[in-house]
Amino acid sequence: MKKILIINGPNLNLLGQREPGIYGSSSFETYLEKLRAAYPDVEIDYFQSNHEGDIIDRLHSVGFGGVDGVVLNAGAYTHTSVAIADAIRAIKTPVIEVHISNVHQREEFRHHSFLSPAAAGIIIGFGLESYRLAVDSFVKKL
Ligand code: DQA
Repeated sequence: MKKILIINGPNLNLLGQREPGIYGSSSFETYLEKLRAAYPDVEIDYFQSNHEGDIIDRLHSVGFGGVDGVVLNAGAYTHTSVAIADAIRAIKTPVIEVHISNVHQREEFRHHSFLSPAAAGIIIGFGLESYRLAVDSFVKKL
């Protein structure tokens, strides 16, 4: 069975309550149930952390054979974290960077991603569907 890990970074535990005009009104857990139901042949694991080092530790632990692909929304760390970018480069497992909102329509500081040059691909601005598009890309590629 194919195995994909979704990692959500800081503040994404508050999806559904956090700025719903930008991020929607569904919690990630509710969305994840639907996503898992849509891909019954794929094991979709989920990890969320508000801590940069925990995200890096998890990338390391799945980066050498643990899973077939990682879907990563690093939240605001996208725009600040050289360390997460280095972790993506350090591991073997491909990482797709996703964002719920179209960061290019938002503040200038969200236009730059340290992660994009290290990522296998980038999916931005499709709401929660960004995650499904990333999962789908792994499913079709594997
Ligand atoms: C985000 C965009 C980031 O700029 C922001 O800090 C987030 C969420 C998105 O999914 O649209 O926390 O990654």
